[in-house]
Amino acid sequence: MATHQLGRSSFGDPKNAGNLMSIEEATVLLNDWVPNERLRLHMKQVAAVMKGWAIEKEGADDISAQKWELAGLLHDADWEKYPDDHCRIIIEELERRNIDPEVIHCIASHGPGYFGVEPLNTMDKMIYAIDELSGFIHAAALIRPTLYEGLEIKSILKKLKTPSFAAQVNREDIMDALSRVDVPLENLIAFIIEHQKEIK
Ligand SMILES: [Fe+2]
Repeated sequence: MATHQLGRSSFGDPKNAGNLMSIEEATVLLNDWVPNERLRLHMKQVAAVMKGWAIEKEGADDISAQKWELAGLLHDADWEKYPDDHCRIIIEELERRNIDPEVIHCIASHGPGYFGVEPLNTMDKMIYAIDELSGFIHAAALIRPTLYEGLEIKSILKKLKTPSFAAQVNREDIMDALSRVDVPLENLIAFIIEHQKEIK
């Protein structure tokens, strides 16, 4: 997917550090840009897991947690309308809105194999680790009559070893992402289930 390569590694303007949009404003953008409800839910789930991780695992303050949440909420915002230019369009929109470069870099690095941007800080590395796994876990919940209720970590592990299940989810990306953070797969699965199960 060479077309997705962003061809640069610097995003936004350092003078915009700390300049965030509100979650309400980001939700308006999301509703406007993403008609597909399931895709919107994916971004809301990743946002909830990112925010939870920032606060609980990284001791983030409100501003920092909002950066994690915003990156999660907007990381695929251009995917539905601009699949061939995915990531570039939302990045340019956030640059136009003078958003904090860390948020933009985080979005730009959420798939290094596709966008050609390496995750640098913990926020970058965690969105890479959380994104695909969050979608995979949601797919696993959707095929169960009770959805998230009773969904076990071992069932997710088993499905990850079943190539035909959610075949579009790249297992190598998940393992590559995990190798960059010091988090066991089981722990991340448990954290994701806990933080996204109530998101609607
Ligand atoms: Fe995503």
